[in-house]
Amino acid sequence: MTSLIEQAAQRLEQLKQAGVDVGLATAAAPAATPAPTPVAVPTLAPTVTPIAAPAVIRSPGDMTSKRVDLDLDALAAQGFLTPNAPRTVMADQYRNIKRPLIRNAMNKGASTLNHANLIMVTSALPGEGKSFTSLNLAMSIAAEFDNTVMLVDADVARPSMLRMLGLPPGPGLLDVLEKEADMASVLLKTNVDKLTLLPSGRPHARATELLASDAMSALLDDMAKRYPDRIIIFDSPPLLLTTESRVLATHMGQVVIVVQAERTPQSAVQQAVAAIEHCPLKMLLLNQASNKRSSGYGYGYGYGYGYGYGYGQADGQGDAQAQPGRDRA
Ligand SMILES: Nc1ncnc2c1ncn2[C@@H]1O[C@H](COP(=O)(O)OP(=O)(O)O)[C@@H](O)[C@H]1O
Ligand SMILES: [Mg+2]
Repeated sequence: MTSLIEQAAQRLEQLKQAGVDVGLATAAAPAATPAPTPVAVPTLAPTVTPIAAPAVIRSPGDMTSKRVDLDLDALAAQGFLTPNAPRTVMADQYRNIKRPLIRNAMNKGASTLNHANLIMVTSALPGEGKSFTSLNLAMSIAAEFDNTVMLVDADVARPSMLRMLGLPPGPGLLDVLEKEADMASVLLKTNVDKLTLLPSGRPHARATELLASDAMSALLDDMAKRYPDRIIIFDSPPLLLTTESRVLATHMGQVVIVVQAERTPQSAVQQAVAAIEHCPLKMLLLNQASNKRSSGYGYGYGYGYGYGYGYGQADGQGDAQAQPGRDRA
């Protein structure tokens, strides 16, 4: 059986031969030789279904921000990362994925980025694992990072964060953009230390336009500057169905493009990458690749494929390894 790593390598090679250039050229100049971060792959996790148990929303102590209790056991049972969970393959994968993201976000990477702390998670098409990836990344970062992580549900046409977390619908981003609520009042603090949520907000007829609005770009600028020591992860709409996601991408310091293994057509990946060619830092993340080999670890992965998948940063510590995804067998 072809190992996942080989599959991923083949895929990258195909893209390379097809002339896809993911833009290392435009990455803010690294100080040393760039070692593009390779594709990183989560993981062996069960299919996720919404959590039935209702979550508790407590009265806020400070009257401005609410606090919610996430049912961490239910999340873990569904394959999500949670703090204090035992060390797993998936946790290791996300550790590798997040490391360069954090370093760039803190502008400790080789290059200085605008809005470095704003990280967009997108994909070519719906259903590739953007929300799954966003939540796991946020959990993973919250578990180890010194500063606060904010997870934003910016897929305003298909929001899923609150449902995924077993939380009731509530106000959020769209309400802030419509000036019907202020940011502090819609943010949800959680029982996961350092993890704050910004839901997408009440359904809105012009939701997608709001996402690409001047109000949104002003808000993003404000968020990036007001909380420079906070990592903000945007679970975003897919790139190929509408244009809002591309506009959103222009404000992001880093973009993670989730690619569903063995599913997303190569042409779709190419188009998605092309749609955001001006974004300086892009990373392709191969999701749900199936691989029964547990020996996938330890493969030095991907540095030969240095044509731009990744961050173009100087050190090799952001080495993500190709790993198994959902085992569909
Ligand atoms: N690596 C993975 N392992 C297990 N289930 C996954 C994985 N990635 C995605 N899923 C599941 O696949 C479905 C689609 O993923 P989702 O994150 O909602 O896609 P998107 O947000 O891109 O539309 C969800 O049920 C999600 O939980
Ligand atoms: Mg989603």
